Amino acid sequence: MTPDFIQLHHGDDQALAAEAATGLRAPAAHVSPKFFYDALGSRLFDAITETAEYYPTRTEAAIMATHGAAMGQAARGVTGPEPALVDLGAGNCAKASRLFPLLQPGRYVAVDISVEFLRQSLQCLQREHPQMPMAGVGLDFSAELALPQGLTTGPAVVFYPGSSIGNFNPAEALRLLSQARSVANGGALLIGVDLVKPVDVLEAAYDDALGITAAFNLNLLNHLNRLLGADFQLREWRHLAVFNAAESRIEMHLEARRSLTVRWPGAERRFAAGERIHTENSYKWTPEAFEVLLRRAGFTQTEAWTDARGWFGVWLAWG
Ligand code: AVJ
Repeated sequence: MTPDFIQLHHGDDQALAAEAATGLRAPAAHVSPKFFYDALGSRLFDAITETAEYYPTRTEAAIMATHGAAMGQAARGVTGPEPALVDLGAGNCAKASRLFPLLQPGRYVAVDISVEFLRQSLQCLQREHPQMPMAGVGLDFSAELALPQGLTTGPAVVFYPGSSIGNFNPAEALRLLSQARSVANGGALLIGVDLVKPVDVLEAAYDDALGITAAFNLNLLNHLNRLLGADFQLREWRHLAVFNAAESRIEMHLEARRSLTVRWPGAERRFAAGERIHTENSYKWTPEAFEVLLRRAGFTQTEAWTDARGWFGVWLAWG
């Protein structure tokens, strides 16, 4: 078999540039974390996951390794045999590949912002599972998560690992979880969530000693230079990661080291010394608050697994 590919979302550079410019010119300058992920940014993110301080990826992997069989069994108890597996933000094929033996899906649907990005992953997976029907869907589900009719039939398992839900504020997260529940179609959601923990642990995870997260954050300016034709000088900016306890989120910012002006065709933005560009929110949930969120999204049943320190949770939600 060979995978099917559908592009539902057309990322156009013009629209992206306009979006970035609007954020930069706002009184409180901000740009979406999606601008981190150019080619180098994606590699820097992979490097972040290997730093000693960034615990989420390896903690989630350990939870999956320990409890994956129980998760698969619980999920199949809801869906019946051979459920469709809908993988949100599929990325490389590694995480899904580990899920296949646990879930034994009858069909694999990988969703990512770029269908091009999925071609390699699905090719790799199809080689390992030649008989499995597979589809790649190019969709920016941060705007809306809805799949075309007929892509899945019957109850599905929607898999959303990596704590990417953390990039959404509680209202947006509620909407995404409700939409995931619709896509599951009577099946289940399997989702990884980073949890509230001591501030020093959180802040170190977003400001590692090697400076990889700093490079990841600063590289966003390289991306904007290319996208907008802007003239950001990276040496004029400083990486900041702070936990905002009132909002229960890590915030990443880039702070101007002195007063400066950034120019790009048609516009410019002056920054005072110490002025910041807000580049990311990464919300941290308590288990109790996340349970409430799942129920508000319409799920009536949940089962959760965590690590010994309670740093990260994986939820199965259904009903
Ligand atoms: C990919 C959104 C889960 O919030 O931890 C890692 C991104 N940013 N270090 C996160 C990220 C800085 C990551 N997510």
